Amino acid sequence: MRKSTVRSWAFLAVLCFAIEAVASRCAEVPPGPKWLQTAVFYQVYPQSYFDSNGDGIGDLPGITAKLDYIQSVGCNAIWINPIYESPFGDAGYDVADFYKVAPRYGTNEDLKNLCAEAHKRGMHVCLDLVAGHTSVFNQWFQRSALDRPNRYSNWYIWTPARENAPGSQPFPGDHNRSDRYLPNFFPFQPALNYGFAQPDPKKSWQLPTTDPACIDVREELKKIMKFWLDLGADGFRVDMAFSLIRNDPDHKAISALWHNYRAWFDQEYPEAVLISEWSDPAAAIPAGFHIDFFLAFGEPAYGLLLGPNSRPDGDARKPHAFFERAGGGDIKAFIQNYLKHYTVTKSRGYISIPTANHDTPRPTWGRDEQEVRTIFAMLLTMPGVPFIYYGDEIGMHYLPQTPNREGGLLDDIQRCGSRTPMQWSKRKNAGFSTASPEELYLPIDPSESRPDAASQEKDPASMLNFTRALLRLRRDHPALANAADFQPLYAEEKSYPFVYLRQADGERIIVSINPTAHSCAIALNEAANPTPLLVRGAVFRNGRLEMDPVSFGIFAVER
Ligand code: NOJ
Ligand code: CA
Repeated sequence: MRKSTVRSWAFLAVLCFAIEAVASRCAEVPPGPKWLQTAVFYQVYPQSYFDSNGDGIGDLPGITAKLDYIQSVGCNAIWINPIYESPFGDAGYDVADFYKVAPRYGTNEDLKNLCAEAHKRGMHVCLDLVAGHTSVFNQWFQRSALDRPNRYSNWYIWTPARENAPGSQPFPGDHNRSDRYLPNFFPFQPALNYGFAQPDPKKSWQLPTTDPACIDVREELKKIMKFWLDLGADGFRVDMAFSLIRNDPDHKAISALWHNYRAWFDQEYPEAVLISEWSDPAAAIPAGFHIDFFLAFGEPAYGLLLGPNSRPDGDARKPHAFFERAGGGDIKAFIQNYLKHYTVTKSRGYISIPTANHDTPRPTWGRDEQEVRTIFAMLLTMPGVPFIYYGDEIGMHYLPQTPNREGGLLDDIQRCGSRTPMQWSKRKNAGFSTASPEELYLPIDPSESRPDAASQEKDPASMLNFTRALLRLRRDHPALANAADFQPLYAEEKSYPFVYLRQADGERIIVSINPTAHSCAIALNEAANPTPLLVRGAVFRNGRLEMDPVSFGIFAVER
């Protein structure tokens, strides 16, 4: 063979190898909008973010006015809790009109403007899609309750009163229909009827998912999504995404439903995202969601990592949380569960472990700032899409004594404790509003030591600037990217620290977390020539990683 032929074969082989290497790396990046690969979300509870017109309630122009701040934190996307017209029995999760912004937040035009201003900054805006239920004041429900058959008669699940179906409710008002309806959450949130996957043949009110009324409902949901996407929204966080179809034991029917919506997104809105409140990524992501939350419900996820075991009131100290000063947590159980979801979804979508949300206590509950920093060091270096709940970036307190408003109290959790106005400065009402204090949506944190954004802005060592530093690191290092590889290196029951490796494009980063009040050390061979990137109280010495009490380390390492 001639020399030049050998050379071209060698060249081809190298080329193929390179293409394959790139392809295999690309294969790990989930399909969907490219912007998700670098997305960092900030959740805004609109009532409490910034009041632009002095009526005591946060609003859409208020969010627009704070986009630069949100971007300065390092976030490039926002999720806003429901902003639709509502009687606000459940903070807006009881929608009266899905096509209209609630006047207290502004107008549809204000939302359009918010989206446009976000886009100018390269940011994205996701709305909350309350897909499973409406308010009892929604006109669809009001018409459904009429005796006279009409388009909406079967849009809700009506059960014969004599059957007294569990949870069923009588219509609250003066209507002819004597049946009772099934709610989806609170009794005033009647479930929309997407049908039953396996209707009981003896119960004719259980309609199959193919019933024209159920198809009408699912088409209406599509219309709602189209309406807001066309106005400028970039996607939705779907409330109780798992809940739409009843008697669906293996999630087959609900998965098929979301699959359809996703196929439509891929076709018509390929840059838009679907984020689920499902808390079962292994089910939600194959069903078509781009992102699923891992933390909102369930002991294995929430309890083992952040609470409720670490609450200062000492309730039900079942398994200890990992982020508990006293130790005794079980990160192994958490990670085993996480890996079950991660390994089957990493090439298809993202898992998010949020810092908190409007339903949970804030991470500051019962913890000092250093402890909260160890939480952030972990959550903002894990794979998936980070979500920061407004105010967590400055360490706002969870305030369980906050008065109850808009359905905040749920079982034993006062959700209003995490819904108090954002603290912007040391000005009147912490800079949230110019209204008189009694007019505010909820009272401001009364404590002298309440944190605020303006003061922290000036302090290089503040929680705000720490959050920024973490997010800068995440942005600047391929190994910390949303889709970069994750591998636990040390995750043991009742043993610390928790250590993991992130890697991509030949870069390797080790993260080590010790949330306890005790120092700890482990042998770690994987860490050649460690370079500290962001460290507090962690050091490599003679092949061992040594950690102070309440410490973390983020190190670049060689192979
Ligand atoms: C989950 C939401 O996060 C919560 O705030 C709401 O109360 C229920 N779904 C009902 O919509
Ligand atoms: Ca206002």
